[in-house]
Amino acid sequence: MTAEDFVRDLDARNQAVLKRLDPEATLKPEVSGNLTVLNLLKVALKNEIEATEIAARWLVTTDEVAVKMALARQAGDEAKHYRMIAERLRELGFDAAAFDPLASGYGPLFGYLDTLSTTVERVAAGQFTREAIAVVKNRQFIEFCERAGDRVTATLYRDVIEPDERFHHELGRSLLLRHATTVEAQERARQAAARTLELAEELQAAALRTAGIHHAPGC
Ligand SMILES: [Fe+2]
Ligand SMILES: [Fe+2]
Repeated sequence: MTAEDFVRDLDARNQAVLKRLDPEATLKPEVSGNLTVLNLLKVALKNEIEATEIAARWLVTTDEVAVKMALARQAGDEAKHYRMIAERLRELGFDAAAFDPLASGYGPLFGYLDTLSTTVERVAAGQFTREAIAVVKNRQFIEFCERAGDRVTATLYRDVIEPDERFHHELGRSLLLRHATTVEAQERARQAAARTLELAEELQAAALRTAGIHHAPGC
């Protein structure tokens, strides 16, 4: 299949699974107990630092200039998101400077992404798929913020963070078009994308089970 056909097919497969990540059908979003914008923003800090670091690790382990620069751009954007979320947390009364989101270690999705060594797998998993997940999750988070009456956080996500994550997804698309050109590369990319979606579903189910967390923003 051509790279164009492959990317179109992968996008359709991803979107079919992403519909299942939408908890609206099974969950009534509620602001109660620990499920607050503040606590969800703390989850967001962890996602942003992990996204920053994986992009930075991949940047130094690729020789391709276009890929290096895409990852550098992404690392910078994710670090900017971290700073903006930390500032918003400070406004909400939480001292993010004294908080280490990696104190309990890196998450399983980070661990998986860190094992990927080829560009086609990395851009399929870390950009094309992970960032498509982020777009869905951030849309849900924006709705959550609005229901909670937090228009400032909703606006931060709608105007800055969500458009950046969408751009990262599009970077993934353009890099995939250039790298997913052989049967073998396409198979690697498909598997990496599928595993990323599986992990995202598992993580969402685990967060819901153990901490009652849903509507956490993505990256
Ligand atoms: Fe991102
Ligand atoms: Fe981000």
